[in-house]
Amino acid sequence: MEDLQNYLNSIRRDFADKSLTESSANKNPFLQFETWFEEAVNSQILDPYAMSISTVDETGQPSTRIVYLRFISEEGLVFYTNYTSHKGNDISTNNKIAVNFFWGELERQIRVEGVVTKVNEEMSDAYFEKRPRESQLGAWASDQSTEIKNREELEERLNYFADKFKDQVIPRPPHWGGYIVVPHKFEYWQGRPSRLHDRLIYTKKNNDWKITRVAP
Ligand SMILES: Cc1cc2nc3c(=O)[nH]c(=O)nc-3n(C[C@H](O)[C@H](O)[C@H](O)COP(=O)(O)O)c2cc1C
Repeated sequence: MEDLQNYLNSIRRDFADKSLTESSANKNPFLQFETWFEEAVNSQILDPYAMSISTVDETGQPSTRIVYLRFISEEGLVFYTNYTSHKGNDISTNNKIAVNFFWGELERQIRVEGVVTKVNEEMSDAYFEKRPRESQLGAWASDQSTEIKNREELEERLNYFADKFKDQVIPRPPHWGGYIVVPHKFEYWQGRPSRLHDRLIYTKKNNDWKITRVAP
């Protein structure tokens, strides 16, 4: 751990390149997302659609994990998962959620806060249908977040479902589907020199978005 600590003590990097101003930012946080997302894709960032989501359980304990953003519209951000997973259980008792995108190559972070609900069954079905067969089988085989004996157990379950659905269209498991994050707050963070970073906050007020700046 000593090398690691030395590294953490010595590492320091200035932020250089870009800025985010009230006049350059789009008034609509979803359109601002579209602009930054396009730049992230063009920057060859690995998995720019990976986002970390934080949920809170009934004792108040938060937990965070990465999921993939699979759809976005002005209604919200959609990801797919197992409804009986750790995150699924959290969401069933507390629908508040926080989302974070970190695009280090662009010195950018986007934070989102909102509430989360299941998408409708048709949307989950349509997405599940498009997934590769192996991923569809994986959704059946993995009782996500539950303890398993070993890896073999997982592989046995995969084989079981591969057999069960042989030569058939694989239906979507009832415990698997989409969630939509409906934001009421966005923060766009742009790294700047001397730690004087830009932070623009969008807050939803009567269906309109208000932009404010906060200190870095
Ligand atoms: C790059 C990356 C993408 C991921 N995408 C998803 C995803 O879209 N859906 C999902 O359920 N898990 C995804 N995972 C796995 C989750 O991070 C997590 O392990 C899993 O959902 C179980 O989380 P939970 O036990 O907190 O519910 C991804 C992990 C990584 C590293």
